[in-house]
Formats: sequence, C-alpha cells, structure tokens
Amino acid sequence: MKVLLSKDSKYIIEDDVKEINTKDGIIKIEEGKEILESHLGKKFSVSEPNLLDILSKLKRGPQAILPKDTMLLLAYTGIKQNSLILEAGTGNAFFSIQLAWYLKPCKIYSFEKDPRFYPIAKENIKKANLEEYIEVINDDIFNYEKYVKNLKFDLIFLDFEKSNEFIKHAFNLLKNGAYLAIFNPTINSLVKNIEEIKKYNFQINIVENIVREWQVEFYFRPKTLGILHTGFLIIARKIF
Ligand SMILES: C[S@@+](CC[C@H](N)C(=O)[O-])C[C@H]1O[C@@H](n2cnc3c(N)ncnc32)[C@H](O)[C@@H]1O
Repeated sequence: MKVLLSKDSKYIIEDDVKEINTKDGIIKIEEGKEILESHLGKKFSVSEPNLLDILSKLKRGPQAILPKDTMLLLAYTGIKQNSLILEAGTGNAFFSIQLAWYLKPCKIYSFEKDPRFYPIAKENIKKANLEEYIEVINDDIFNYEKYVKNLKFDLIFLDFEKSNEFIKHAFNLLKNGAYLAIFNPTINSLVKNIEEIKKYNFQINIVENIVREWQVEFYFRPKTLGILHTGFLIIARKIF
C-alpha cells in the first residue's frame, strides 16, 4: 500500500495500481517518485501507510473499537511488547490489529464465535500483515480450554454482550499483576461487569473516553459533528 497526500485529499492505493482517477485529476503512479502530480497539476506526497491508513481500508463488520479506546487501554495498562493476550470477541479484528501493531512481537488469541465474522477478521489481519501475531479461533470463548490450556495471560480484553459471565474464567487465566480490560458501550453493561469483578481480587479502574476534536478553518471551535462518547473501559488489575 501507498498513501498519496495533499492538504485536502488522501488516497490509499494498493501496490499494483498504476493509475487512479480522482476528483483531483488522473494520477499516474510512478515507482520511486516521492512527489506525484495529477493531470490537473495538483501535487501529492507518496508515503508508507500508518495504522490509521490501514484501518481505513479494512472491511467493517460488527461495531469496532476505535483507536482512541485502544490508546486508553495502552495508557492505563502500560502493557509491553512480547505480551500474551486473550480476546473475545474478535469481530472484524479492529482491536486485535491495533494491539498487535503496537505490541508486536506478541501473541494474541482471539475468539469469534460467529462464522460470518471469522473470515472478515482473517482477511483484515492478512491485509494488515499481522498474521504472525494474531490467532483467530472460530469458537465460543467459553470453550477456551480446548485451545489455550495451561496458558497465563498478561491481558484479557472482553468486548461482547455476556462478558460478565467470563470474568471468573478471566481471573484464573491472568498472571498476578496482569490486566482484565472490558469495553462497555453502555452504563448497563458497566454495572453488570463491575458487580461481578468485585467478587474477585482486583484493583479496579473505570475510565470514560470522551474526545472533542476542534475545527481549524475560519473559527477555532469544537467540531459540531463527531464521535464524542464511545464507551466506558474497565481496567482491572489482578492482585493474586
Ligand atoms: C462488538 S464485537 C467486537 C468488536 C471487536 N472488539 C473489534 O474491535 O472489531 C462483539 C463480537 O463478539 C462476538 N461474540 C459474542 N459472544 C461471543 C462468545 N461467547 N465467544 C466469542 N465471540 C463472541 C460477536 O459475534 C461479535 O462479533
């Protein structure tokens, strides 16, 4: 993949594309050039894709974890490279791809029980070139013993409806000092999860993630549209 950037346009193209027809004109992709010019005279820099560029080219399935929530998890867990991670559900693998991007080398075992999303997840991971670090298992997380017997994890991340029912297993699967993180889109799921987590020996933190972007054209003010609230993140650290 390559990224073509101007002040107001971005085009992400596959490596085998030779020419693109855009609102800024026809752009011929000439190998080795750092600046390209469209037939209308508009100039573009050519660069490697970053994580956000790659995410924007992936297939969407169920509701995905956004980079701002992933960053919050990294900030509040301090997790490092080479970590062993368990995740459910995979969905379209947006979260596992983000995590592997920052923590590689690492190993993520990610469970997705819905056979419709499993191939999307696999395809997205391949496109992000992170197959080495993420293993997607097309099964219910409650069958984890078949796949991850005798492993202890540095992080367990849960983003599915009945996450509260998995907390007792998560506690046993974590190393001492490791983290259970649960994404909660609503206060209802937050309360259910917290009531369950309190039965175990965890240090508990809840963070709400509100980000306000500002417009920079004409007047500086908060943007009128945008995703403000995405969810509540529970970060629970196992004591012993
Ligand atoms: C909100 S999506 C997860 C999105 C994912 N975190 C991402 O960033 O792309 C929830 C997923 O959990 C899956 N799921 C629900 N219950 C599950 C279970 N018991 N075991 C494994 N996957 C499950 C659903 O099929 C769905 O794809």
